[in-house]
Parts: sequence; C-alpha cells; structure tokens
Amino acid sequence: MTHSLPNVTVGTLPDLPDLPCYLNGEITPLKDAKISVLDRGFIFGDGIYEVVPGYGGVLFRFDEHMARLERSLAELRIPNPLTRAEWHAVAMQLIAACARVHSSAGQNGDQIIYIQVSRGVALRDHIMLPGLRPTVFMMCSRMTLPSAAQRSEGVACVTADDFRWEKAHIKSTSLLGAVFSRQISFDAGALETVMFRGDYLSEAAASNVWVVKAGEVLGVPKDQLVLEGIRYGLIEEMCQAAGIPFALRRITRAEVQQADELMLSSASKEVLPVTTLDGQPVGHGAGRGKPGPVYARLYAAYQQLKARSAQAAAAELEGAQ
Ligand SMILES: Cc1ncc(COP(=O)(O)O)c(C=O)c1O
Repeated sequence: MTHSLPNVTVGTLPDLPDLPCYLNGEITPLKDAKISVLDRGFIFGDGIYEVVPGYGGVLFRFDEHMARLERSLAELRIPNPLTRAEWHAVAMQLIAACARVHSSAGQNGDQIIYIQVSRGVALRDHIMLPGLRPTVFMMCSRMTLPSAAQRSEGVACVTADDFRWEKAHIKSTSLLGAVFSRQISFDAGALETVMFRGDYLSEAAASNVWVVKAGEVLGVPKDQLVLEGIRYGLIEEMCQAAGIPFALRRITRAEVQQADELMLSSASKEVLPVTTLDGQPVGHGAGRGKPGPVYARLYAAYQQLKARSAQAAAAELEGAQ
C-alpha cells in the first residue's frame, strides 16, 4: 500500500511555482494573482471549471471542453465571459508562456490547462445575482501522466457510496464531495474511489469508470448523476473505429465486481487499467489482476489520436504561413 502524497507545492504563497497565470484579462505571475474575499467562487464554490490537456503546445479536444464549459455555465446562469476564439487565444498565450518556463527547466511541453469561472464578486447572498462580472482564472501545470508501472501493472481502486449531489453533470468548483471521495482511496493506499448510488455504478472521484464484459465496453448513461468526461466521446469513437462493441447503460455492483476488465478515464489518466478493486484482483483466468486486451487496444488508439491531433495542428500552422 502506497501512502505517498502527490508531488505538489504546498505551503506559503512565496513557495508557489514561478509560473504565469491569467486572471481577469491579464497574464500575471501565479504568486501575485489575487481575488476578492467576496468572490462567490470562494464564498459558495459558485463557479465552474475545465481541465484541458495540451500536448506539445496543442490543445487536445478543445472544442469538446469548450462545449462542456458552455453547458456548465448555462446550468449556473453565469454568462460566458469570452467567445470560443477568445478562450482559445488566451489558453494558447498561457501555454506558450508556461512552456518557456518549463523548457528553461529542461521539462517537456505537455501541460494541463485549468480554467475557472466564478459568478463574480458580491455581498454574500445565496441568490444567483445577475449582472456580476464573472471572475476568469486560468493556469497551467506540467502534465503528469500515469507511470510506466501503473500502465503495465494497473492500479488499485476501492469502492464507496456516491454521497455527492444530483447535479454531478455540472463541472462545478463545489468539490467537497470529490475531496471526501478521493480521500477514501488515498487513506486505503489506492488511486481512485469507484462510487455507487445504491446498487448502480456512477463514476470515480475524478474519473469515469468503464467495465469490459465479454468483449463489450460498458459505461453508465450520460445523465445528471455523472460528469460526462471528454473521454466519453473519445472512448466511443475509438471503440467504433476498432470494432469493439460499446454501450451505455445502468451497471450493477455485481457486474463491476465480476468485470473482465475495469478502466478509468480522465484528462490526466487518459485510459488506465484498474487491476485491484477493494483488494480483489479484477478479471478472470490468466488475465486476473492484469491489464486486459481491450485496455491495451484503447490505450494504443488514444496515443494515435494524440499524435494525429499534433500532426493536424502542425499542418494547419504550416498552411497558415
Ligand atoms: C467527477 C469526474 N468524472 C469524470 C472526469 C473525467 O472527465 P475528463 O475525461 O473530461 O477529464 C472527471 C475529471 O476530472 C471528474 O472530476
């Protein structure tokens, strides 16, 4: 059981990485960025966020992330402060600024872009006050992908009740449910917490969950009880292209426990095999407790999609010159 804390910078403000960020129209050092204590994101968690992977300076599935950002804002009745083109321009500007810092430290160019929009600043009142100026914040961090050992051996997960609210489809910054959920797996030395509402699978603390049964990839329906990860569409596309049967339907606890393969997906995990659930090996026969063949095909397809997106961006750039 590993209990190591993730490699994050904690502590006082001067210890924050010397990286640029974007706050309300300005690129500024992360350690100097300040918002009001009356910001509703701080007071109520009244805001939304997005996490967009950028490989080698190219934003991966940017339009899909923007579509989800637009849906989340609309649910919260927060006006979208930027057009898609403006979001893209700001993200690219920030990626370039952060890449300069990373490359001067000898690090590669893969990054995670974090975008947050809160309703803005107002005297404390629960009502969704109209007419406020949304607070827009964006920062980059170096992408940490799963390790070679996690890919070859798979990861451990534990199960827990999904005690979050019934608007899990909104990518909201009110994340205390996810914090509690992730802590359950951390305390157990596992990577993720696979959650159930009653007898039915929902998702993990910060990932979607996929079950493989008799060669078919199963995911839960895209409803208000789960966040539709951007990898939902990707996994469906990859299955279609590879001729792997794919279905979204309710999945019982017994089906998860008896799965042939289990996988997680998220921007930073991509697709990742789960080989132990609540201490029990996942799968059957010779494949028990090992990453399975469907995972291997999806992981390879994912890497191809990343490479193709970088090639397409390079070709577009060349065409524009
Ligand atoms: C609750 C939850 N479900 C699913 C996901 C996966 O979403 P995506 O594939 O867009 O990263 C996340 C990502 O953070 C999440 O927080």
